[in-house]
Amino acid sequence: MKKWICMALSCAFVLAVSGCGRSENQKRTEENIASDIPVSDSSQSESLSSETSVASEQPVSIEPISAETNSTKIEDNGHMESERSETVEESISFDFESKRVMLNSGYEMPIYGLGTYSLTGEVCVDSVTAALNSGVRLIDTAYMYHNEESVGEAVRNSGIPREEIFVITKLYPNQFSNPEAAIEEALTKLDIEYIDMMLLHHPGTGDVDAYLAMEKAVEDGKIRSLGLSNWYVEELEEFLPQVNITPALVQNEIHPYYQENDVIPYIHGLGIVVQGWYPLGGRGYTAELLNNEVITEIAQAHGKSSAQVILRWNLQKGVVVIPGSSNPDHIKENTELFDFELTEEEMDRINGLDRNEKHDWY
Ligand SMILES: NC(=O)c1ccc[n+]([C@@H]2O[C@H](COP(=O)([O-])OP(=O)(O)OC[C@H]3O[C@@H](n4cnc5c(N)ncnc54)[C@H](OP(=O)(O)O)[C@@H]3O)[C@@H](O)[C@H]2O)c1
Repeated sequence: MKKWICMALSCAFVLAVSGCGRSENQKRTEENIASDIPVSDSSQSESLSSETSVASEQPVSIEPISAETNSTKIEDNGHMESERSETVEESISFDFESKRVMLNSGYEMPIYGLGTYSLTGEVCVDSVTAALNSGVRLIDTAYMYHNEESVGEAVRNSGIPREEIFVITKLYPNQFSNPEAAIEEALTKLDIEYIDMMLLHHPGTGDVDAYLAMEKAVEDGKIRSLGLSNWYVEELEEFLPQVNITPALVQNEIHPYYQENDVIPYIHGLGIVVQGWYPLGGRGYTAELLNNEVITEIAQAHGKSSAQVILRWNLQKGVVVIPGSSNPDHIKENTELFDFELTEEEMDRINGLDRNEKHDWY
């Protein structure tokens, strides 16, 4: 049976709570982010480097948000109007049948994919290949992961038409001083004709100029959609008026222990899709999260794994998931998210696990 799950989101609420969600010492300015970017220890963090119901095959629609102030009207082509007090009439809709979402750039993106942080060389090629063989069509990479070549190799060798695969990569702040060269480097390393989406990995010195260079690459047909990563409410408020193309996506840390329940509706209200990193808590934290009593109880009720319950919880909140894995069984398991649905009560129970506990420094 087809069913729409609608989430009406209130900008008034968002504005009331904007700026919350990270404790003061977690909030980062451009200066301190730029100054404490570690560049060598990639093992420590990514930056361094019941109703057991039948699956809802319906879109999850994050309904239009009305806001009288501090909102952004988005035109069809994704370009942002300079007048920032218009009423937002955008909606973001997850189609659970096609398993895709329409971006404000006019391109569709899958709502689940594979994250490739810490996967390099053959491990990365094999993981991306396993994902593509399991039906995954969204791959997240980054300059800082040192694996764009491997991602590109797996995509090229897959035999899958290029336009069916959506590849996200990112510019790191140490590339912002020469973004044109950095974009060319990503295109060369990936070697997949064009980049579906490029994000700025973190706020940092020169981020606006780097974004403007990415806008030029969109004009030139080298990149299709743009986005940001690790941008929260304050950072977005400062950044958006300085650019011309509204980001199509913001990728931030989101998991049951760090839910960003204030930030997500704000971003949705701008007509921007939200994608979560560390959906399973991130390496070093997954065991605790996957063994959480609430999650395991819900998983048992549905005959699913804890990982699947967490990923499904994200999807029902309108958050795109990119779990990382080099295990083909896990990779396949992480695609099986559409034959069950969490009840409102189950969603509430997982929402109740929020600890505002970040698992990385940005
Ligand atoms: N923009 C940013 O700043 C940023 C920051 C961090 C991450 N990211 C992106 O987000 C992606 C996801 O983050 P992450 O990979 O670091 O962490 P994650 O997805 O939260 O967790 C990955 C860990 O979960 C395990 N895992 C995956 N599927 C599982 C399953 N079904 N059952 C049990 N364990 C499972 C993996 O082990 P196995 O390999 O054994 O499956 C791996 O150890 C990254 O890969 C990256 O693309 C972006």
